[in-house]
Amino acid sequence: MIQKQLNESVAYLQSKGFDTPEIGIVLGTGLGKLAEQIEDPIEAHYNHIPFFPLATVEFHSGKLIYGTIEGKKAVVMQGRFHLYEGYDFLDITYPIRVMHQLGIKKLFISNAAGAINLDYKEGDLMLIEDHINLQGGSPLAFKGVGKFGDRFTDMSEPYDVPMRKSLLAIAQKEDITLHGGVYASVVGPQLETKAEYRMLKIIGADAVGMSTVPEVIVANHLNLPIVAVSVITDECDPDNLKSVDIQRIIETAETAEPKMVKLFRELIKTL
Ligand code: HPA
Repeated sequence: MIQKQLNESVAYLQSKGFDTPEIGIVLGTGLGKLAEQIEDPIEAHYNHIPFFPLATVEFHSGKLIYGTIEGKKAVVMQGRFHLYEGYDFLDITYPIRVMHQLGIKKLFISNAAGAINLDYKEGDLMLIEDHINLQGGSPLAFKGVGKFGDRFTDMSEPYDVPMRKSLLAIAQKEDITLHGGVYASVVGPQLETKAEYRMLKIIGADAVGMSTVPEVIVANHLNLPIVAVSVITDECDPDNLKSVDIQRIIETAETAEPKMVKLFRELIKTL
């Protein structure tokens, strides 16, 4: 059933000119500005794409943009879907399946995350090297998943090693701090308690956020190489926890944007 829906979504986008994307980009927090730098853009609003999850009010500007970045054709998701908005695992990962069927060969993701590792500072970037899924479910737990790839998807190396190496080399060359760490995904939207931050540290997380892991699981299911980078927006010290100011989190993410955009543009040049 889902295949028929995918075919319709893809046919619509192809009819709009989304012909031959090589790269898919999920513009989470921290990469928003990249959308303005796409050359010869063609846009498709989420609400116009057949079978796309219906965008909520907060999300009225959600759209897919097709165009050129650093000489490569890319399809860019401006606005992503989160579990905490009431979507389910299949909804939030549907766009990944659409971009894959459009033909992308690589996927880039950005997000905002809180630092569990207190060596990290606000505004730093973290390359996700591994993750812990604390969202209580899987985007692969549905009937017929085997038609798309292995049900028992291997997750021994979910983040593409060659692209990770490239990003670390680029960061060094550009003098950008890029930690390597483990990202834990929670549902949210509430932030964590002190006890939860303590637990996250004990189980091996360096950063915590509310997205990305379902998309990464589906990308692995589809054998799609992926890299993901977090902007560290707050420091989660359970022994000295300040109340979280979401506005401040957004501002911190914005100040880190030029570094994130630089990393991803330079990465595209290496492909
Ligand atoms: N927790 C969960 N998600 C987040 C945080 C956090 O502290 N900061 C940014 N996204």
